[in-house]
Amino acid sequence: MAILKLLDQGGKIVKGVGDIKAFLNDRGIIFEQWEASKPIKDDDDQETILEAYQHSLSPYMARHGYLNADVINVHKDTPNIEEIRKKFLSEHTHAEDEVRFFVDGEGEFFFHFKEVFSVICQKGDFISVPKGVKHWFDLAPKYHVKAIRVFQTKEGWVANYTQSGIDKKYIK
Ligand SMILES: [Fe+2]
Repeated sequence: MAILKLLDQGGKIVKGVGDIKAFLNDRGIIFEQWEASKPIKDDDDQETILEAYQHSLSPYMARHGYLNADVINVHKDTPNIEEIRKKFLSEHTHAEDEVRFFVDGEGEFFFHFKEVFSVICQKGDFISVPKGVKHWFDLAPKYHVKAIRVFQTKEGWVANYTQSGIDKKYIK
């Protein structure tokens, strides 16, 4: 279940799904919650995971013109995990929407509109970061993200870093 943090309002926490959804939708960020059609095990392969969410994933992909879906799985023992964390940790934008569905684990998306806020995404949370929106992402403190990603292009995840340094104010 997601947690919204209003970082420029003294770190005020919002937990209700309806309130979080309304706040994010107001800013063009799609937020949903999906359920698996069958239980997922820790060692299930990519195909099994995609199949378990196909009833939600396929219509979404068709509606928004996505071609490819995969599952990213990083955890504490992933080689170079700190390097991987750093790639996502500086403020950036993308030329296409960044779509993630959290199958397991946890990660925090930080958004920079007029204000800065963050959303901790957990199991069952679906989020789509609109193209061009300034954001960054932290794997810490859990260092475990198992997430479905969808892409419109073959290039996959490409970041345009802003070099603003604003992320440094919010990352511990
Ligand atoms: Fe991103």
